[in-house]
Amino acid sequence: MHKIVTIVGARPQFIKASALSRALQQSGIPEVLVHTGQHFDDNMAEVFFREMEIPAPACNLAIHSLTHGAMTGRMMEEIEKVLLEQKPSAVVVYGDTNSTLAGALAAAKLHIPVAHVEAGLRSFNMRMPEEINRILTDRISSWLFCPTETSVANLRNEGFGHFPATIHLSGDVMYDVALHYSRISAEKSGIMKQLRLHGRPFALVTLHRQENTDDLARLSQITGALNDLSRTLDIVLPLHPRTYKVMETNGIRLHFTPISPVGYFDMVELLTHCSFVMSDSGGVQKEAFFFRKHCLVLRDETEWTELTDLGYNFLVGANPEKIVARAHEVALMHRSFTETPYGDGTAAEKITDILKSTL
Ligand code: UD1
Ligand code: UDP
Repeated sequence: MHKIVTIVGARPQFIKASALSRALQQSGIPEVLVHTGQHFDDNMAEVFFREMEIPAPACNLAIHSLTHGAMTGRMMEEIEKVLLEQKPSAVVVYGDTNSTLAGALAAAKLHIPVAHVEAGLRSFNMRMPEEINRILTDRISSWLFCPTETSVANLRNEGFGHFPATIHLSGDVMYDVALHYSRISAEKSGIMKQLRLHGRPFALVTLHRQENTDDLARLSQITGALNDLSRTLDIVLPLHPRTYKVMETNGIRLHFTPISPVGYFDMVELLTHCSFVMSDSGGVQKEAFFFRKHCLVLRDETEWTELTDLGYNFLVGANPEKIVARAHEVALMHRSFTETPYGDGTAAEKITDILKSTL
């Protein structure tokens, strides 16, 4: 039987893997999960394996907290050893992190075909580590599973139609995940009660991208805008450890208390009950839409252009005036959220069927 090795390491990858691992299991394809260890705090990693019933990884390489080059290089070295031992028919990688690129490079050099889930996304900003990771991963993958029509068009425009890879419009596995867990999250999560949020309007915020955390001027502008808004609105900010560390080191203060990163059930409850979202996260931008909320995107560009084109999400960068003005505006907006740019919630099944028929 053909075996798949899946490389995961960062929070969004555990969440995405929850859908595909289930679909692979249901179709009888053996899967071995390899955890690079990039994310390692319990509330950034283990919690998702527990809550979302993701199969336990065969190994945890414990590679984290390094520079880009050191992290990617060490991951490649260790992943190569695992691949030589496991001899899979294919390697699955998700998204655009250093774990993604390391997994794809290690596999491609051993002539093991790579399936890239979330292929074709582009911000057209080559200063982002994620943009470098995703372009290189796409180029050496054999199956390009695209979440949106825009991502298919990006690949075609870059000439991927001429490369020995197949391009598939699968839909977004994150939509599958949101649909699946939103059925049970209310029962499993105690976050609304714990934070006494019932009956109180609040904005849900996440902030972690390198372009915001490593630029202290941007970080101060964004946190300043949040402080301003917090005078009239509750703000729930599960703070990423990266951002926490930069704020602590540089004395950047919030006028409200952020919370620690939360598990997925809590996140679904917060998305369900918030008034609107502000985020620089790729995943959270879309989840806002899945849960019928507007999102202020705390970036200068986005890969998820469908939502800004449709007028659900708004690019506000790190501009405090824009953030505050748009926040007041979207708090009063009532739109229908009827479009379905991310498929029908069966992306994982589609990916599994294609892998099964071509492996
Ligand atoms: C990584 C991805 C980013 C993704 C994000 C998801 C890269 C280049 N970046 O960014 O695309 O959006 O994950 O959350 O791969 N840390 C902890 N505990 C943890 C995890 C991280 O303390 O559990 C600390 C690390 O020690 C480091 C910092 O956070 O100091 C950044 O971690 P790193 O994995 O390098 O990048 P992320 O910002 O998490
Ligand atoms: N998320 C979570 N707990 C949190 C913050 C985010 O479970 O405290 C989830 C979020 O719902 C989404 C995913 O993490 O499914 C997004 O990951 P992240 O923002 O870390 O990375 P990105 O999508 O930007 O790569």
